[in-house]
Amino acid sequence: MEQYIMKGGNPLVGEVNISGAKNAALGILAAAIMTDEDVLIDNLPDVRDINVLLEAIAEIGATVERIDSHTVRINAGKIKEVSVDDEFIRKIRASYYFIGALLGKYKSAEVPLPGGCNIGSRPIDQHLKGFKALGAKVDIVKGSVVAHAIDLVGSHIYLDVVSVGATINIMMAAALAEGQTILENVAKEPHVVDVANFLNSMGANIKGAGTDVIRIKGVTKLHGTEYSVIPDQIEAGTFMCAAAATRGDITVKNVIPKHLEAISAKLAEIGCEIVEFDDAVRVVGKPKQHSTNIKTLPYPGFPTDMQPQMAVTLALAEGTSMVTESIFENRFKYVDELARMGGSIKVEGNVAVIDGVKNFTGAQVEAPDLRAGAALVIAGLAADGYTVVDEIGYIQRGYEQFEKKLQSLGAVIEKVDSEKEARKFQFRVG
Ligand code: UD1
Repeated sequence: MEQYIMKGGNPLVGEVNISGAKNAALGILAAAIMTDEDVLIDNLPDVRDINVLLEAIAEIGATVERIDSHTVRINAGKIKEVSVDDEFIRKIRASYYFIGALLGKYKSAEVPLPGGCNIGSRPIDQHLKGFKALGAKVDIVKGSVVAHAIDLVGSHIYLDVVSVGATINIMMAAALAEGQTILENVAKEPHVVDVANFLNSMGANIKGAGTDVIRIKGVTKLHGTEYSVIPDQIEAGTFMCAAAATRGDITVKNVIPKHLEAISAKLAEIGCEIVEFDDAVRVVGKPKQHSTNIKTLPYPGFPTDMQPQMAVTLALAEGTSMVTESIFENRFKYVDELARMGGSIKVEGNVAVIDGVKNFTGAQVEAPDLRAGAALVIAGLAADGYTVVDEIGYIQRGYEQFEKKLQSLGAVIEKVDSEKEARKFQFRVG
């Protein structure tokens, strides 16, 4: 079983290149099957969720040609199945994007209900409501979503909750529906905009992505394209928190600083120095950082996917901070793990009350999900002594070469897969 072992206490210093956005890439890859022509996608992050999705795309009959670890050419001209049932696909959240993509193109889809991190109940009722409004018949049969339509017809759809997944999924199906769809109360996340731009580059007619209302004029066909995925806002934010928590100095490169504003603002508020460049952000941690309050909200609010990393940073800041999680109900599972390292956090309902401590001490902890796992690594790198993080498969789902990027910033961390290797690491590091 792979683990990360690290010896903390070093400030992380240097520059790090940020990979393409996982959540944008997942939507884009699924949308790539909506044309029969070649689609070339670049700046893909080389992470497990992406590789699983590519396997599933090949499984249903599309040609998937890996040009290098960040570039792929997809041709979905010969898809033989509108039923996706790969044993892995059930494990990733974004498998639901096959519903919108297949329904749009073939007016028929059969996709297992999605898995993904256990961070809350994560219903997909809004996705299904959208497909039904476009004229599809949608049923849940033996754990799968089965959707069929004779014709998809544009409609006026109001989302009851702001959902990234539902916005992207309905947008995909509506891109190939007849007539106009107006989608209200939509998510405005950068990856929603990126998927819309990608679809438009294939000939779709989507306007308003990035605002509360998206207007889609259906087209009959999409064509091939070449597209580069935007940088990962959450990966960048994770390194920014690593700079703050370890009192280091990190420049995240190849980013869109505007996408990071909510994170930059909070780090500035606790006393970090933030310098913005055209496509980079530098975060300088300070010996004395202080508390603040955070509430997770849809974009442009503070992202729920950054909540654990920021909470770890606040757990090492002076004073009491309150972190309110308003998107997913089960996102504080790292709190017990952090307590083993000396963190002092009490959770009541959807609020974590954090009493900042001077330092953490290393311990053996377990990653409960993707982002919380990354947060525990940050905690370990800030802690005195050795920390072992178990269940790092979660982290590998969303962070490319995480330990290598951290090593390049001076972190003493290694991925090991046996007790013997862990002991060797300790012996070498001393
Ligand atoms: C996506 C991201 C995830 C991120 C989340 C919020 C991907 C693959 N995952 O997840 O990393 O944490 O956005 O930024 O892109 N909801 C409903 N009904 C629905 C859909 C959602 O009630 O049909 C609720 C959810 O339970 C949650 C909220 O809406 O409380 C937001 O969820 P949503 O934006 O859909 O998250 P995901 O797309 O699953």
